[in-house]
Amino acid sequence: MAEAFLHYDQVASSYDQPRHHFFYGHLAEKLCILAKEHVQPESILDVGCGTGISTVEIVKYFPGAEVTALDRSPSMLELARKKEDIRTVTFCYGQTKNLPISEKRFDLIIANMSYHWLSPGDRLVLRDALKENGVLVMSFPLIMPFPKKEGNSLLLTIFRRLKEMQPAWHPFRGTRGLNWNEVVRGLPGLVPIRFERYCMEERFRRASDFLEVLRVRGVFFGFFGNKATAAENIARALLQKGEAISYAWPIGIAIFRRR
Ligand SMILES: C[S@@+](CC[C@H](N)C(=O)[O-])C[C@H]1O[C@@H](n2cnc3c(N)ncnc32)[C@H](O)[C@@H]1O
Repeated sequence: MAEAFLHYDQVASSYDQPRHHFFYGHLAEKLCILAKEHVQPESILDVGCGTGISTVEIVKYFPGAEVTALDRSPSMLELARKKEDIRTVTFCYGQTKNLPISEKRFDLIIANMSYHWLSPGDRLVLRDALKENGVLVMSFPLIMPFPKKEGNSLLLTIFRRLKEMQPAWHPFRGTRGLNWNEVVRGLPGLVPIRFERYCMEERFRRASDFLEVLRVRGVFFGFFGNKATAAENIARALLQKGEAISYAWPIGIAIFRRR
């Protein structure tokens, strides 16, 4: 399966739009508020900072801290670098495993909707990039029974259609999300402090807007892997272009501390 940063590299300018600012900014703000209860950071890493939506919130909530923002997509990072509010931030192009952690460790690491895209090895690199007593906060798509909204049912129908077309295909091979036990198991040595389930609902006036949002946020790519295009085509065929539609995003919010 192609890696996530390639997807985001292609959608960067569509991603950096108000609808997505609201969604990702709201989650980033929740992470900052949670982190503030547990740490007074001098150094912060925003991992998978994208176009800087999360970075803007971090700088707002922790104005005195030294902030480093890392992303593997050059196009996403280029848009982040252009944002006036975060020009004091040190931007790093690259992937998590190349972090220069022998030189620098962080009091706080924030992974806003990026943790689920990291490989198991990259997740351990993040753990090791924390100072003693340092804190990691993250938001991620949560695996749970599908909420009963039209948009969520549509994804289930697509799974079934794809399975009928090719029974050997495994629908859950993509990076569709995580469950809480997986997250804890993947971070040995960190102490889980808190875990919350959160559901964000969005209403779309037209089905075509809904499909565009799913595409830009990596849902087709993450859920259906190499069948992403086929899944999008099935969705288009099933929906009336002008019909209104609701979707619920099940999200996990978690905070860990390094011993
Ligand atoms: C959904 S976006 C989240 C962006 C940002 N945190 C926000 O709140 O808008 C996920 C980002 O993670 C980045 N990413 C994925 N895998 C990565 C890796 N291994 N190392 C660094 N960044 C990665 C992608 O390029 C993408 O910009």
